[in-house]
Amino acid sequence: MNINTAKFIVSSPRADMCPQTTLPEYAFIGRSNVGKSSLINMLTGRSKLAMTSSTPGKTMLINHFLINEQWYLVDLPGYGFALRGKREMDKLRNLIDHYVLDRQQLTCLFVLIDIRHEPQQKDLDFLNFCGENAVPIALVFTKADKLPLMKRKPAVTAYLDHLKEAWEELPPHFVTSSETRQGREELLDYIEEINRSLSGQQKA
Ligand code: GTP
Ligand code: MG
Repeated sequence: MNINTAKFIVSSPRADMCPQTTLPEYAFIGRSNVGKSSLINMLTGRSKLAMTSSTPGKTMLINHFLINEQWYLVDLPGYGFALRGKREMDKLRNLIDHYVLDRQQLTCLFVLIDIRHEPQQKDLDFLNFCGENAVPIALVFTKADKLPLMKRKPAVTAYLDHLKEAWEELPPHFVTSSETRQGREELLDYIEEINRSLSGQQKA
């Protein structure tokens, strides 16, 4: 899929304040610093569209980006960023939970996992929360460039094997790097396929 236009629309402090539209949305979630905002920039080919930082906790609001005037990419704050106070953490978690559970337009939630890390409880808890609530998810392994080529596949396989212990059916997964643009075509094709099936449904 070609990205012809990518526009920042709005930052919302709460799920119920997000744009009132019927366009499908694809959102990115994961621990702080996992590379959500960088991935949005990589996918759109606009290096400064979403704000990134090496300091965790950069994204604190729900950010909507309109793509090709037809669908949204949504950049969410990270979860599990313990350096903030408990009140702020609770507020963020509340914002994320409401968005994930209540946002009707949410078509696929991409849950980002740093490919270098062993399964972490915060991510597993979040994935289970999505599973229990039937949230449509896909896994995105990020920062593939930071692992030697030979280690990438085993890392992904080990992660998926771990998930299989609790999950009957695994969600789709992608391996990406915002540095090398690995995984870009696969992810955009996946989104395009879903968009196409949705517009088919509307016509039917
Ligand atoms: P928060 O908004 O704070 O939750 O973080 P985020 O998940 O949006 O992460 P962000 O995209 O801001 O990236 C965090 C840091 O990781 C930045 O320094 C990025 O340059 C770096 N980074 C992100 N993706 C990649 C990647 O694929 N490869 C490498 N080498 N670095 C990456
Ligand atoms: Mg961010």
